[in-house]
Amino acid sequence: MEANFSDFFDSSRLPLRPEFGIVLGSGIVVLEDLEDRFDVSYGRIQGLPKTTVAGHQGVLSFGRIPGGPVVLIARGRFHLYEGHPLEHSTCIVRLFEKIGLRKLILTNAAGGLKAGWWPGDLMLIRDHLNLQFPRHEGEGQRNVYDQAWGDQVMRDAAFAGVSMRAGVYAGLLGPTYETPAEVRWLQKTGADAVGMSTVPEANLAASLGMKVLAISCITNVAVSPDAQASTCHEEVVDVAKKASQALDAVLHVACRS
Ligand code: HPA
Repeated sequence: MEANFSDFFDSSRLPLRPEFGIVLGSGIVVLEDLEDRFDVSYGRIQGLPKTTVAGHQGVLSFGRIPGGPVVLIARGRFHLYEGHPLEHSTCIVRLFEKIGLRKLILTNAAGGLKAGWWPGDLMLIRDHLNLQFPRHEGEGQRNVYDQAWGDQVMRDAAFAGVSMRAGVYAGLLGPTYETPAEVRWLQKTGADAVGMSTVPEANLAASLGMKVLAISCITNVAVSPDAQASTCHEEVVDVAKKASQALDAVLHVACRS
């Protein structure tokens, strides 16, 4: 798909010039307190497909973080498991780039793979394992996530009272959750969390020269052999909503560092 956002967004005419682009994953409800906020539903933007996943609002919010920078938030993303091609799954990043954004924060819901981790924990993504996603032509293997930004955010989050985990995110296509054998295998690969998004967006953004920060909200912990059997999308959305308060605090500090 050749995305055409120009009918909607002429960046020179935007009333607010955002500095950070933020993508929210399943069930995550944060940054509701933006000043001068205005929302645009994806359906009104030429070139954006429809979101079909429960827990994804399908809205772009512009606004200023109180006392901080202007941000543009994509409340909902497009997954390959919905049947979207790679171009759809990364079109928010393309839109952000068109608007001139150079700093991207990706969030997602993910299954934890470490004993001792709990639903509601937040994990800074240090790196990822791209296990199933196709790559854009020209994208190389590289350091995708901005480590210095991540370090700063972990420090500032701790100062704000939120202690974060850090680790490696394994990206799988989904939409089904992992079998016990897959969980054991993922643990052996060095993955700390597993999810069904983020990797294509992070890869594209890094290849476009954007600074990328990514945070997983651990919604379920997949470590016991039968844990994944009971995981369902409703649970994921529910836990993500509950963890949103801590994530909200982290996003506030991330947009100041
Ligand atoms: N596996 C894959 N994706 C997920 C999970 C999981 O356990 N939890 C939330 N998204």
